[in-house]
Amino acid sequence: MRSLQIGIVGGTRGMGLWMARLLAGEGHRVHAWGKASASQMERLIPGCQVIFVSVPLGVTREVIQRVGPLVGPEAGLMDLSSLKAEPLKEMLSCSSSDVVGLHPLFGPRVRSLKGKGVVVCRGRGTKWFSWVRGLLQSQGARLVEMDPQEHDRAMAVVQVLTHLNTMSMGLVMKSRGIGHEELSRLATPVFRKKMAMVRKVFHENPDLYCSIVALSPYSAEILEDYSRVLAALSPLVGARDSEGLKNLLTRITLQSP
Ligand SMILES: NC(=O)c1ccc[n+]([C@@H]2O[C@H](COP(=O)([O-])OP(=O)(O)OC[C@H]3O[C@@H](n4cnc5c(N)ncnc54)[C@H](OP(=O)(O)O)[C@@H]3O)[C@@H](O)[C@H]2O)c1
Repeated sequence: MRSLQIGIVGGTRGMGLWMARLLAGEGHRVHAWGKASASQMERLIPGCQVIFVSVPLGVTREVIQRVGPLVGPEAGLMDLSSLKAEPLKEMLSCSSSDVVGLHPLFGPRVRSLKGKGVVVCRGRGTKWFSWVRGLLQSQGARLVEMDPQEHDRAMAVVQVLTHLNTMSMGLVMKSRGIGHEELSRLATPVFRKKMAMVRKVFHENPDLYCSIVALSPYSAEILEDYSRVLAALSPLVGARDSEGLKNLLTRITLQSP
């Protein structure tokens, strides 16, 4: 396809910048905007064929409400948010353009798309849906087409449960008052991996992980399940009942699909 004019709201950092580099590498003319570029963005969006929104989850809705009405009816409006149902609903109601929802299942440090997962949600229209699928497939991405609600429900296990677990672990580690150096000296391979996750969530990008946990529509359900499991474990641990614990794990494993 010919070189396109593409705008990325949130293209100055993180996933937006990653997408800007990918598209520029494909020969497209890319405009990357951040918080300070509101007036430039409003002037240039109507001339773009494709617009990506890649801003923090907490402001995604208001940014789409600002951007959507500026996108031309022949253009494609897409987002890279880690949640899909609300951004898609918002993009559909605030624009008349084609709409596609994307969720890259990796972070912005990834250099090659080969074998990397990207969730693709159909919104409206086929032209830009096919274009973005073709773009990602040509780079070797593994595409997973999904309904947005289904995505959010399943990702609550993949992301909310994982990050909730890491947050709980980090907070318990802090409360034990054992220094980082001593823990590092004693670390097993599994604990080292967990410490790396704790560092990532607490120090590298707490905004992203906290907003995934706080804003997923399924977080309350996950938290309820998590609390129920802890409550079931508690009396068995209190009674030093390792057989009971093992039985509980076996029961849960047997119940899993
Ligand atoms: N990071 C990941 O690992 C990852 C993976 C998959 C999906 N995602 C999704 O990607 C999206 C962006 O996350 P990120 O981690 O890349 O965020 P980020 O690194 O914090 O970057 C956010 C970008 O949004 C811009 N921005 C913030 N508020 C804005 C506003 N009100 N108006 C216009 N631009 C604004 C920032 O501009 P300034 O430079 O001016 O601050 C920056 O360019 C999120 O929806 C997230 O769920 C992230």
